[in-house]
Amino acid sequence: MVGAPRDPGAHPDEYDATPYVPEGGGLKALRDGAAGCRGCPLYREATQTVFGDGKASARVVLVGEQPGDQEDRQGRPFVGPAGGVLTRALDEAGIDPARTYVTNAVKHFKFQQAARGKRRIHKAPSLREISACKPWLVAELQVVDPEVVVALGATAGKALLGSSFRVGEQRGIALPMPSLDGNGGGHGMLVATIHPSAVLRADDAERAAAYAGLVSDLEVAARLLK
Ligand code: URA
Ligand code: SF4
Repeated sequence: MVGAPRDPGAHPDEYDATPYVPEGGGLKALRDGAAGCRGCPLYREATQTVFGDGKASARVVLVGEQPGDQEDRQGRPFVGPAGGVLTRALDEAGIDPARTYVTNAVKHFKFQQAARGKRRIHKAPSLREISACKPWLVAELQVVDPEVVVALGATAGKALLGSSFRVGEQRGIALPMPSLDGNGGGHGMLVATIHPSAVLRADDAERAAAYAGLVSDLEVAARLLK
């Protein structure tokens, strides 16, 4: 049945989004299904699922790590400071941000409450959480079937290329898109780069170079679209 969830609770002890992923439907069915995902504990503290955003016809899919504070509140990926850097870098690389599909390896915000004050501090998702959430990413990629996937940072790289991925070694190179579901069908190419928030975190002296590196890796992706 299109859009019907599989039996949630089939493997209650495992972290795995699979039982929540509807079979068959398009992006709307996936988004609706993901809103109720309890495939790992991250849904408990977060405000909402932040699913991917963009058209199924997009030729480029950008994969980030996980929603940040702003994304968690607004329910959309890359609407905070990292999104600002990403939009500017895409523009500069010749990729129209409005024609991309943007998502994250992990769909719920993982954070730690600051010792004082209300600030929520981002925490990196574990390999277990990345792999639990991967069925959503695989399903999005199957629907959008882009020509180029851009992995933004180590978490996205690990989700797409495996835990041995190292951004410093594999960035800026056009790689064949691996098969994600074991059934073949890894269409298109993959380019990895740094996460846009690494530009924001860089020292003043290094920020311009970090940004230029992001743009030049995105230019590799842009050339694949020509
Ligand atoms: N960082 C990410 O990886 N994704 C977002 O959506 C926002 C910040
Ligand atoms: Fe489901 Fe992913 Fe959220 Fe975990 S992080 S509950 S697997 S959507």
